[in-house]
Amino acid sequence: MTDIEARAREMLNAVHSASDMNALESVRISVLGKKGVLTEMMKGLGAMSAEERKIMGPALNGAKDQLTAAIAARAQTLQAQALNIRLAQERIDISLPARPEIRGAIHPVSQVIDEVIAIFGDMGFSVAEGPDIESDFYNFTALNIPPEHPARQMHDTFYFNEKPDGERLLLRTHTSPVQIRSMEKTKPPLRIIAPGRTYRCDSDMTHTPMFHQVEGLVIDETAHMGHLKGCLTEFCKAFFEVDNVRMRFRPSHFPFTEPSAEVDIGCRRSGGELRIGEGEDWLEILGCGMVHPKVLQHGGIDPDKYQGFAFGMGIDRLAMLKYGIPDLRDFFEADLRWLRHYGFAALDIPSLPGGLSR
Ligand code: DAH
Repeated sequence: MTDIEARAREMLNAVHSASDMNALESVRISVLGKKGVLTEMMKGLGAMSAEERKIMGPALNGAKDQLTAAIAARAQTLQAQALNIRLAQERIDISLPARPEIRGAIHPVSQVIDEVIAIFGDMGFSVAEGPDIESDFYNFTALNIPPEHPARQMHDTFYFNEKPDGERLLLRTHTSPVQIRSMEKTKPPLRIIAPGRTYRCDSDMTHTPMFHQVEGLVIDETAHMGHLKGCLTEFCKAFFEVDNVRMRFRPSHFPFTEPSAEVDIGCRRSGGELRIGEGEDWLEILGCGMVHPKVLQHGGIDPDKYQGFAFGMGIDRLAMLKYGIPDLRDFFEADLRWLRHYGFAALDIPSLPGGLSR
C-alpha cells in the first residue's frame, strides 16, 4: 500500500466515524480545507519531478474524489438520522383526548356548510368542487358573460398578472364556474351543490374580500321552475329550522339564467332582534333561475334535450342571519373569544334526523 493510500484510508475512517454534522465539518476542514492534510499534499506536487507527479497527481486526485464523495454520503446519513431523532422526539399522540380548556370549536362558516350539505344531501345532491384560481372562461365567458358584458364590472374581480401568452387568471368571484366544470365532468342527470371560497375587492360590515358561497345545479330532461321553487322552499324551512317560511320569488336578471329570480324571506326586526320566517320585512338571500341554453352549450350539454335550474347564495350571510352575527369581518379575524362565543361543538355533526344546530 502506498503512503497516500494509507493516509487516505485514515482520513476515510475519520469521515465514517464523525458522529454529527459538526464533527464531520471539522474532519472536512482538516482534510480538504485550505490547510487540510490533502490540500497540503497537493501543494507539494509543484515541487516534484515530472515523473513523480505522473504517479502522485492521479493518486492524490483519486483520494480527493473518494473523500469528497464519502463526506457527502456521511452528511446525508447524519442528516437522515438527525431528522429521525427529531421526528421521534416531536411525535404527537393524536389519540389523546383534548383537554377541556383547550377544546376547539367549529367556525360558523364550517357549521353552515355542514348544515347546507346535510339538507341538500338528503334531497339527493352531491358535493362538487372547483379551483379558487379560475380562468376568465369558467368565471365569466362560459356563464354567458362575454368580455364586454357590464356584469363583469359588478364583480370587483381580483386579477393575476398577465401570463406570457396573454391569459389573465383570476380569483373566482362566485361559485358558478363549478356549474360548467360539473357539466364537463358528468353527463346529466346532474344534481350538485358546490360550497366554497369566493373573492371580490370589497370590504365593509357585510362584505369581506374573501367570502363563501354555495352553488346549486340540477340538470335533467324535465326540471322546471316549480322544482326550483319547491327545492328552495324546503331548504329554507330546514335551514332556519321553522315549519313555515314566508318566501317571495322576485323576477331578476343574471346572464347565466333565463328566467332569473331573487328569493326574499320574510322577517321581523324588533328590539334589535331579527326573526326569520315571519313578519312584514323582506330579506334577500339568494339568486336563482333556469340555466341559460348557452351555459348548457358551454358545458357540453345539448340544450334541446336537457334543461335545469341553478341557484347561488352567500354562506356567510346565511350564518349571520341564522346565528345573529352582526359583522362579517369578525368571521375572519381569528379571535378566539369570538370563536368560543359563536363556535359549535366539534362532535355535533349536523344531520337532519339528529338536528342541524342543536
Ligand atoms: N353567481 C351569482 C352571484 O354571485 C349568484 C347566482 C345567481 C348563482 C343566480 C346562480 C344563479 O346559480 O342561478 O351573484
